[in-house]
Amino acid sequence: MKLLEERIQQDGRILGDEILKVDAFLNHQIDPELMAAMGEEFSRLFANDKIDKILTVESSGIAPAVFAGLSLHVPVVFARKNKSLTLPTTVWAADVYSFTKQTTNQIMIDQQFLKSGEKVLIIDDFLANGQAVNGLLKIASQADAHVVGAGIVIEKTFQKGRQILDEQGIRVESLARVKAFVDGQVAFL
Ligand code: G4P
Ligand code: NA
Ligand code: NA
Repeated sequence: MKLLEERIQQDGRILGDEILKVDAFLNHQIDPELMAAMGEEFSRLFANDKIDKILTVESSGIAPAVFAGLSLHVPVVFARKNKSLTLPTTVWAADVYSFTKQTTNQIMIDQQFLKSGEKVLIIDDFLANGQAVNGLLKIASQADAHVVGAGIVIEKTFQKGRQILDEQGIRVESLARVKAFVDGQVAFL
């Protein structure tokens, strides 16, 4: 998606060897107009999949997921990372290991918001090592929901997330595919 690539070139900052900081429009400050355009793009990509629901993980997946839900006219459910006092005990849950942070988080979805047979689209901000999407796949499997694919805002193709999802036959649609960081610039596939 041209608009997104241009925005990454303009406002993205490279940290170390593998982190792209996009706090100016996605992970801290959010640009609603860009999110709306991305939501329409996800909607176009998955228009024929009869999606019932969108799944994401808090917190950075929520903004793109909500705009995709707006365009597709379906509800959005975000998995929670921390045990909430008000969360019931009847949850689907999966462990998610973060290579970036070297920690394991449990993600949870209340069983009443994900039912057997529902067709779901997973949306997330980054595809790096694929662990967050993998956690949502485990949850969908517990619920016996059908995952039609994963819509990703920024995919880093030099990490192994895409391969992990390919191996499970998951369709992945990324709006920007980063090939490498070259001399402080972002190169796209
Ligand atoms: P994975 O899900 O693909 O395996 O990602 P990984 O464990 O490597 O990343 C852990 C966290 O870091 C995730 O956010 C992920 O979205 C984010 N992340 C990974 N690579 C990048 C990057 O290049 N830039 C930025 N800005 N973030 C990256 P999280 O812990 O779930 O946090 P949240 O922001 O959603 O709350
Ligand atoms: Na994320
Ligand atoms: Na994040």
